[in-house]
Amino acid sequence: MTEDHINYHYITQYIRETIPQNEGILKEMERYAYAHHVPIVHPEVARLIFVIARIVKPTDILEIGTAIGYSALLLAKTLKQGGKIDTIERYGKMIDIAKENIRKANLEDSINIIEGDATEILPALEGEYDYIFVDAAKGKYMTFLPHCIRLLREGGVLVSDNVLYKGMIATDALVVRRKKTIVKRMRDYLAVISDHRQLETTVIPIGDGVAISYKLGS
Ligand SMILES: C[S@@+](CC[C@H](N)C(=O)[O-])C[C@H]1O[C@@H](n2cnc3c(N)ncnc32)[C@H](O)[C@@H]1O
Repeated sequence: MTEDHINYHYITQYIRETIPQNEGILKEMERYAYAHHVPIVHPEVARLIFVIARIVKPTDILEIGTAIGYSALLLAKTLKQGGKIDTIERYGKMIDIAKENIRKANLEDSINIIEGDATEILPALEGEYDYIFVDAAKGKYMTFLPHCIRLLREGGVLVSDNVLYKGMIATDALVVRRKKTIVKRMRDYLAVISDHRQLETTVIPIGDGVAISYKLGS
C-alpha cells in the first residue's frame, strides 16, 4: 500500500494493466496532470465512471469538479447524440486549461463549464441529469447532496469519488489530526447515502474509494 492507494499496490497495478491506454488528447492530459500535480481520476476510477456511463447511456451529465477537464472529456464519449455535460469548477486557472482542452477536442458544443463554487451554483441549477459525478472538495459532499438528489432523474446514477479518502474513512488508525473534520463529514455523507430512502448505494474500494448510488422513484 502506498499513500495514494487504499488497495495493495499489486492489485491496483494488475487492474491498471487490464485498462486500454488512452491516446491523443486524453493521453496528453494524463501527462500534463502528472507533470503539474493536477489531481485527476485514477485510471481504474476513470474506467469505472466510463463503464457506468456506458450502461446509463446519458443525455445529460453533471460533474462537480472539472479541474483540467479530463473526466469530462472521457465522459463526453458516452453521451447520446445531442447530449451535454455541465461541469462546475471554481478555480480560474483550471477553468482556462479545461476550456483549452475542450476546444482542442472539439467538444465545445457538448461540454459546458459552469464557473464558480458548486455550493453557490447548485441551489440555482435546474434541469434533470441522468448521471452526476461528484469529484470536488471532500468536506462539501453533504452540502452538494440534496441538490444532487433533486437534479438526478429517477433511475439516474450518482457517483461520488474519494469516499474512502486514503483509508481514513474506514479506520481511525489512519486518521491524521488535520483531516478529522473532512473524515467526519465524509463518514456522515456515506452514512446518509447508504441509508437514504431515494438511493441505493454501494461503495467500491478502488482508487480512493467510489460510491455508486442509484436513484429510486419517490
Ligand atoms: C480532483 S479535481 C477534479 C478532477 C476531475 N474530475 C478529473 O478527474 O479530471 C477537483 C476539482 O474540484 C474543484 N473544486 C473543489 N471544490 C469545489 C467547489 N466547491 N466548487 C467548484 N469546484 C470545486 C477544484 O478546484 C479541483 O479543480
